[in-house]
This record gives sequence, structure tokens and C-alpha cells, in this order.
Amino acid sequence: MKTKVLNISKNFLMACAASLSLASCQSGSNQGFTLEQQGDTLTLVRITQPAKYLLLPVEERSAENQVCLITGNPADTEMDVRLAKEKTDYFVPFELPAGAKETVIRIRKAPKDALCWKEMKLSDTFDTGNRDQFRPLYHHSPLYGWMNDANGLVYKDGEYHLYFQYNPYGSVWGNMHWGHSVSRDLVHWEHLPAALARDTMGHIFSGSSVVDVDNTAGYGAGEIVSFYTSASDKNGQIQCMAHSSDNGRTFTKYEKNPILTPFDGLKDFRDPKVFWYAPEKKWVMIVSADKEMRFYSSQDLKDWTYMSAFGEGYGVQPSQFECPDMVELPVNGDVNNKKWALIVNINPGCLFGGSATQYFVGDFNGKEFICDTKPEEVKWMDWGKDHYATVCFSNTGDRVIAMPWMSNWQYANIVPTQQFRSANALPRELSMYSEGKNVYLAVNPIKELDAIRKETKEIDNFAVQADKEVEMNTLFDSNDGAFEIDMKVSVDGSGVAGFKLMNSKGEYVDIYLEQTAGKLVMDRVHSGIVDFGKNSIPHEKEAHDNRIANSINYVDDFALATWGPLSADKEHALRIYVDKCSVEIFLDGGKVAMTNLVFPNEPYNSLHFYSKDGSYQVDSLKLYKLAL
Ligand code: FRU
Repeated sequence: MKTKVLNISKNFLMACAASLSLASCQSGSNQGFTLEQQGDTLTLVRITQPAKYLLLPVEERSAENQVCLITGNPADTEMDVRLAKEKTDYFVPFELPAGAKETVIRIRKAPKDALCWKEMKLSDTFDTGNRDQFRPLYHHSPLYGWMNDANGLVYKDGEYHLYFQYNPYGSVWGNMHWGHSVSRDLVHWEHLPAALARDTMGHIFSGSSVVDVDNTAGYGAGEIVSFYTSASDKNGQIQCMAHSSDNGRTFTKYEKNPILTPFDGLKDFRDPKVFWYAPEKKWVMIVSADKEMRFYSSQDLKDWTYMSAFGEGYGVQPSQFECPDMVELPVNGDVNNKKWALIVNINPGCLFGGSATQYFVGDFNGKEFICDTKPEEVKWMDWGKDHYATVCFSNTGDRVIAMPWMSNWQYANIVPTQQFRSANALPRELSMYSEGKNVYLAVNPIKELDAIRKETKEIDNFAVQADKEVEMNTLFDSNDGAFEIDMKVSVDGSGVAGFKLMNSKGEYVDIYLEQTAGKLVMDRVHSGIVDFGKNSIPHEKEAHDNRIANSINYVDDFALATWGPLSADKEHALRIYVDKCSVEIFLDGGKVAMTNLVFPNEPYNSLHFYSKDGSYQVDSLKLYKLAL
């Protein structure tokens, strides 16, 4: 009985609240704004109380609404926001102009009875404190919102600039901006405001940045000049330019954009990579053009001339080429024998499904790339499933540092995080080595990472006998899931030499050397949450390649093992980095790198060594707890 009374009064209160907010919909200003609902799906939000943000409630599974700050300027741009209809998953901040007497925001397509009208609120603050159990500790991730491709990477005056494909209005793909973070060591990142925002020409897709040392573009010697693809239904994919006079913080878009459009009306024409070709004192731009890469040249960064194309029929077939880069490196450290590696990100085409990074080694004569190997030869930069859109920092002298986005388009939009989605993999230093006639890239974690080792455990060598597990419990007393394992093992050439990274819930990542098959394997089938796609609902409309819709039924795409080649050597060295939701392995001096996401319900905190059909020896084992 008592309960019933309480229920009635609760309903009564709710009804009062509803009628109050209805009143404010028409004329009230008790929240600092009024809602003017013109028809069913067009609302003007009139804000009279000064505030920094209008906090917008987001429901990830609802359709996109268009939110636009109205200033009367033709540059006013609609942003797609999945405003809450029935429940609020989280809020995103919509920045308001400072000092305005009245600000008007127009919202399209949100029905009158949507929850968002009750939930949106003004605020001077937006809480970016971490609320996500899977947020990495020493990998770069955005404070909130969606991230894909690291791009526009450039080093200048002691700072590494990391720009990235960013949606500030939700944790799924959309509203492409260039988010921005800077670092002095590639490990500690400072988050800065987005550097380039989606505009009326389109989304700001991936691209690159250069330091214009000789002032070829006329903006000043040493300015950062950036190149990106502007993408929209109206204009297609066209290349644009912007320059920065304040060390990459803010950019001015070139008034004569675009600087390059496809000569044949190609739909997929994007991700311009620009670099200086010293022998001919000219700039070169590589653009991914559907299933090939196109090369252009320029003297002033503004006028571009077509030179050549490479890639048709090369590598995994068929696959969409994206995010090119090309770097020159000495082979086996010999500066008199340099080769070029053309990095080609492909989607789909990964050995294990979805997106991956392949590369071709060859020569560049200033006009064309000439590949050393036959078209069917494929070289992978990483043998995992969560390594994509990899490009390198420009202006780093002799060092070549690559930064991959750590996800896969098959499921990137639905991984079980919400405050943010996606991190970047560890920055990697690239070098070249030869094996027989073939030249390969070696991929190693940057040396700067050694500085974040906080606690070290060294374990004496031991043998792992066939069919007997050696358990090493409690890696660290307090373990927040961020550590490094350095290990050397001797194998006898047959059988399986393995170990499991495990937590107390019995979830584990199984890593093993399958010697007769010549494989290094990482199996994440039992790694924790692996079925997050099961109940996902496709969105009605997707702006970009139906990427979210493609993510459904992916479940077997996540719960699997990936493998890379293992040499017949008896001794192997493994460096393994674990950080909340990722495991990265670097084998034998970087001959194989393998990057995979995992979502354990609790950090892995023990190692279980096992051997099948033979025994093996752990020659050395070092554990490092990592923290910033
Ligand atoms: C690669 C990519 C790029 C494009 C960007 C859009 O992941 O498809 O080709 O510029 O993402 O966000």
C-alpha cells in the first residue's frame, strides 16, 4: 500500500515536471534557453544565458540529427549528432560563442517527444575525467568521442603533432575533424582543441603535414602546411590545403581550395601524403585512388601535376587503397644502399578480415615507384587485426616513426567502450633488412617507451616440459593492466611453445610459437568480452561506406587468432606490450609485429607457460610495470 502511494506521488511529480518542461518549450527560460519547435522535426534552441557549452545527450543507436550554430555566416555547418530519443548514453559538448547575447542553434529531424529536449543543458564545464575501464594508460586515445586514422603527423620545434580523424559529437564515426594532440616524447600526450573542423565543403578526411622550410608556398619559412581530403556527397573527394602560423594549433584553409581533383571523376580519391623530394627539389604528393596510388609533383604546394600511378593488381586483390605513405631507408643500416617502402593501407584485405597495412619495397626515380617484387607478393607491416591507416611523422630526420590506428573497420564502431572509441597503437620505429634477395621493414617500439618502466621483475631461466604447465601467478601486486614482457626462449624446432596471459576470471590471451608450422600465434578467443557485436543494430543511414552497418554479425571476426611467420631459428626474442585493451607483440627484432585488441573483464595478472610435443626453455624473462 505504502509503495503504491509513493508510486502515485512519483507519477504525479513526473507529470508536473513534464508539464513544466513543456511550458519552457514554448516560452520559459528557466534553463537559460527556450525551445521553439517549428513543425515536427525542426527546433530552434534560443540561448540567452551565457555558457560555454550546450551539453547534448547522445543515444548511440538513434538516427543522426543535424545540429547547427546559426550565425548567418555561409560557413555555418551542420553537425550530425545522434540525439537521445529514449535514453541518454552520454553527453557531448557543443561549444557556444563567447559573449553572445543570444545564440541560436537549429536542430533538424529530432521529433517533439524525443528525450533530448528534456536532457540538454547549459554548462561551463565538460567532465573529461576517465570513465572507461578499457582506456589505455600509455597509448594515445582521445579524451572523448570517436577517433580513427592518425594523420597529418609532423615534428616541429621539439613537438610531435598528432592529428587524427575525430568526431567530437559522438563515439561513432561522423563529422570528421582533425583532432590534435602534441607530445615531446611520443608517449606523454597533451590534448588540444581540434585543429580543423568539418566545414560546408565536407568532412576533413585524412592527410599529411610538412614543414615548409624554404617557404615554397609563401606563408613563411618553417610554417606547417597540411593537406587533407574534403569529402562530401556534393563535391566528392577533393584535396585541400591549410597552413598554420602558430605551430600547428590553428589553421587557415587555403582560399582557392581544392588544390587537386581527380582527372577521371574517381569516387575514392583521398588521403594526400606530401613529402619533399630533395634530388629534384620538388614536392611529391601520393593520393590513394581506388585500387592504385597516384603520384603528383609541385614546386609551391598549390599547383600539382600528375606523374604516374602504381598499384593496380599489386598485393591483396581486390582491395581499396587508403592512406599512403612512402619512406626511404638504408637496407641493413647501409646508407649507400637505400630503398623506398610504399605503405598501402587496404580495406578490406587483411589476412584475418577487414583492414590492414601492407607495403611494397622498391625504387623511386622522382616520377614513379618501381616495385622490387612481383604483384602477387604481399608484405605485411603487422600480423594482427587491429593495425590500420599507418602513416609516418614527417620532418624527423633519419628516424622513421610510424603510428597505426589500433582498430579494424569491421568492428571499430561497436567495441565495448563509450566515452571514447579507439586508441592509436604504439609509435613504431621502422628500419629495413634483407633476407636473401628480398627487403623487408622491421617494426620496433620506439625507445622512448623504456622511460615509463616503473617496476621490474626478473625471473631466472627455466624449462617448460611437455604437458606440464608452469604457472607464474601475480605478475604485479597491484596491476592496472599496463605492462611489458621481454622474453627470450629457446625452442627445439618441433611442437608448440606457448604461454597464456590470464586473469582470475579465467580469461586469457594464448600466445604460442608453432615451430613445425613456422607460426607465431596470438589467440584472443577466450580473452574476455568477445561477443559485443551480437546485439548490435545497424543504423538506418551511414555517411561513410556503411561502416557501422557492416559491423553487424561480426562476432566471429573478433573471436579469433592471428598469426605471423616464425623463422626456423632456435632462439626467439619477444617484446610484448599490454595496455588495458591491447596486446602488441614484436618478435625477433621487429621482423614480425602483431597488434590485437582484447577486452578482459579484469586485467591479466598471471602467466601460464606450457609446451606440447616437446619442451622449451625460457632463457630470460623480464616484466615491467608501465605507467606515465
Ligand atoms: C581510412 C579512411 C581514410 C579516410 C578516413 C575517413 O581509415 O577511410 O581513407 O580519409 O578513413 O575517416
